[in-house]
Amino acid sequence: MFLLLHFVVLLDVKGFALTEGSTITPVCPEGYFPCGNLTKCLPRSFHCDGVNDCGDGADEDNCGDTSGWATIFGTIHGNADEVTFAPECFLTQHPRRCDCRGTELECVNAGLRSVPPTSGNVTLLSLKKNKIRSLPDKVFIKYTALRKIFLQHNCIRHISRKAFVGLHNLQILYLSHNCITALRPGLFKDLHQLAWLILDDNPITSISQQLFTGLNSLFFLSMVNNCLEALPKQMCVQVPQLNWMDLEGNRIKYLTNSTFLSCDALTVLFLPRNQIDFVPEKTFSSLKNLGELDLSGNMITELPAHIFKDLKLLQKLNLSSNPLLHLHKNQFEGLQQLQSLDLERIEIPNINTRMFQPMRNLSHIYFKNFRYCSYAPHVRICVPLTDGISSLEDLLANNILRIFVWVIAFITCSGNLFVIGMRSFIKAENTTHAMSIKILCCADCLMGVYLFLVGFSDLKYRGQYQKYALVWTGSVQCRLMGALAMLSTEASVLLLTYLTLEKFLVIVFPFSNIRPGKRQTSAILLGIWIVGFLIAVIPFWNEDYFGNFYGKNGVCFPLYYDQAEDTGSKGYSLGIFLGVNLLAFLIMVFSYGVMFCSIQRTALHTSEVRSRLRREVAVANRFLIIVCSDAICWIPVFVIKILSLLRVEVPDTVTSWVVVFFLPVNSALNPVLYTLTTSSFKDKLQQLLHRHRRKSVSQTQKTSLSASIVWTDDSSSLKLGVLNKVTFGDSITKPMSW
Ligand SMILES: *[C@@H]1O[C@H](CO)[C@@H](O)[C@H](O)[C@H]1NC(C)=O
Ligand SMILES: *[C@@H]1O[C@H](CO)[C@@H](O)[C@H](O)[C@H]1NC(C)=O
Ligand SMILES: *[C@@H]1O[C@H](CO)[C@@H](O)[C@H](O)[C@H]1NC(C)=O
Ligand SMILES: *[C@@H]1O[C@H](CO)[C@@H](O)[C@H](O)[C@H]1NC(C)=O
Ligand SMILES: *[C@@H]1O[C@H](CO)[C@@H](O)[C@H](O)[C@H]1NC(C)=O
Repeated sequence: MFLLLHFVVLLDVKGFALTEGSTITPVCPEGYFPCGNLTKCLPRSFHCDGVNDCGDGADEDNCGDTSGWATIFGTIHGNADEVTFAPECFLTQHPRRCDCRGTELECVNAGLRSVPPTSGNVTLLSLKKNKIRSLPDKVFIKYTALRKIFLQHNCIRHISRKAFVGLHNLQILYLSHNCITALRPGLFKDLHQLAWLILDDNPITSISQQLFTGLNSLFFLSMVNNCLEALPKQMCVQVPQLNWMDLEGNRIKYLTNSTFLSCDALTVLFLPRNQIDFVPEKTFSSLKNLGELDLSGNMITELPAHIFKDLKLLQKLNLSSNPLLHLHKNQFEGLQQLQSLDLERIEIPNINTRMFQPMRNLSHIYFKNFRYCSYAPHVRICVPLTDGISSLEDLLANNILRIFVWVIAFITCSGNLFVIGMRSFIKAENTTHAMSIKILCCADCLMGVYLFLVGFSDLKYRGQYQKYALVWTGSVQCRLMGALAMLSTEASVLLLTYLTLEKFLVIVFPFSNIRPGKRQTSAILLGIWIVGFLIAVIPFWNEDYFGNFYGKNGVCFPLYYDQAEDTGSKGYSLGIFLGVNLLAFLIMVFSYGVMFCSIQRTALHTSEVRSRLRREVAVANRFLIIVCSDAICWIPVFVIKILSLLRVEVPDTVTSWVVVFFLPVNSALNPVLYTLTTSSFKDKLQQLLHRHRRKSVSQTQKTSLSASIVWTDDSSSLKLGVLNKVTFGDSITKPMSW
């Protein structure tokens, strides 16, 4: 079942044909990857989903991001504490509370206040978790055979300059979790064999270049969680063998172009969680052997364009959580070996496909946005796997959304269809107005259709959306759906504006003759549809300029854009929603305001007080409802747009709520507001039912009906009814009645 579905999707969405059995290695389309040596391509999202989609398991291979040296060295680092003991003790002297195996002495948590006396041929001394506060001069001088010293968790504060004198064979020195604030220059000058120096979790504020004097064999240096504010001018002059440097969690503020000048052997450089805000050109240019570079969690706002150019062997680069303002077009040029690139939480305003193209070996990429993934189609695994609207499993992540998309779709469609039916069934008096209303209902009905389609897509991808997310948002269906929604909203907005203006003319200038006739009305309505259609299809015009305008999220509605979008689509969306729609909204509010005042004034002059009050309340209510429904519908949209203009981040989920709940408000309410609740409609319906029941149509009734203008449209009818009764004949109400 599942296989069938995914085949269908493959064929369906990309028109991609499978050629099983053929031995030619397929050239998969962008975003698709070959299944090992089988001639089959799968969309990126099928990889590493825990399901053997390929059949040979190729899509579940190499899932973990094991690039870089972290894993290799991590195991060595982790095991360094582990000591393999020979059963017998060869040390003639040692404190009773210590464990002695062979020439190794373990005094863990033994309450020691100083380094205990023991035999000269001890090779390993573990004094973890004791109460040693200082290391005096020549404290290890007798133990020249020592290879490993473990002094973690002691709160050592003071280390004398000659503390490590004579340790010519020392290879590993652990001083982590102590209270060391300063290390004197020359402290390690006898430690020619030292390979591992671990100083994690100390409050060391600075280190000098001379500190490393003598450490000719230093291979691994770790100073995680110290308080370093700067690094020596040239970190590696004294330690040419340094291979691994971990300076995570310090307060380093800057790097200079000489900091790593002689670090030729360096393969791993960790600088996360520092305060680096400036990385000058050529900082890393001598790191020819660097395999992993981690600069995450710093304050870097700007990276020189060629900063990574010389890192020819770099496999893993982590730039996440930096306030980078932009990346250069050719920022990653030269990183041919890069396998993993972490750009999480980085806004990339100028993102484009070419930026990631040079990294042919890239297999893992991490972005802030799901959308960015479409710019790196050749990368096998792209995180995040989906956008915020949709969860990993479902297109509409929220149950309320999922249910209401159907409910609202149904209400919208049925309400509008009902009105279209009613208006066609009942012969209207003012056919042009009736036509406008019917056309409005058609536009609104499309919104219902769109919501149904959203509901269907949600059902289709239920439980496995993440696999299809990119395929779906890139699909023709999604784009057409978005265009449909766009057409519906824009046609509806323009029609409402037109209807408002028409009414406005009748009420505010009751004596003027500028009323569109039937032909003009038809032309205007046709024009509105053409404009709506153009607005909806223009984004298809130029893919380069607009990008995938509609497929920005699972519901395919181009409402919210973050800063990183193509300027074309961002500007267009802004122009439509904050330009056209806001203007229309303001025109409507203004027109209804003027109409209301105008009616009030006329009514005051023409009608007796009691009925006037009643009518006015009704008029006011209707105006309020119309304006409110527009406001409910459009204000959230305007707010989102303005927020995005102000560069405020709007969660993707908001879009789906607006699309499902607010946008269709107008479409669902329009039939009600413009037809169903008008008293004239109720009367007419009553009469119709009555007539139907009697099954006889009285000719006189019909005449009287048409003469007494019951079928006028909402607000205007009230006023015109008044006008009609007091001053004019039937004729004036005609344009406004059905
Ligand atoms: C594909 O590779 C597998 C091992 O990875 C091998 O057993 C199999 O024969 C190969 N198939 C073809 C068609 O080359
Ligand atoms: C260590 O030194 C003691 C004398 O101090 C000696 O008895 C013992 O054999 C030595 N052990 C080794 C392994 O050399
Ligand atoms: C480092 O930068 C300084 C200016 O800040 C410049 O004079 C010097 O030549 C640069 N060194 C290298 C190796 O690029
Ligand atoms: C990059 O660094 C961040 C924070 O330091 C970390 O959470 C993330 O896992 C790293 N990315 C990779 C791919 O290792
Ligand atoms: C990609 O990596 C493979 C091995 O992992 C290597 O053989 C190949 O040369 C790399 N490609 C490039 C373009 O460097």
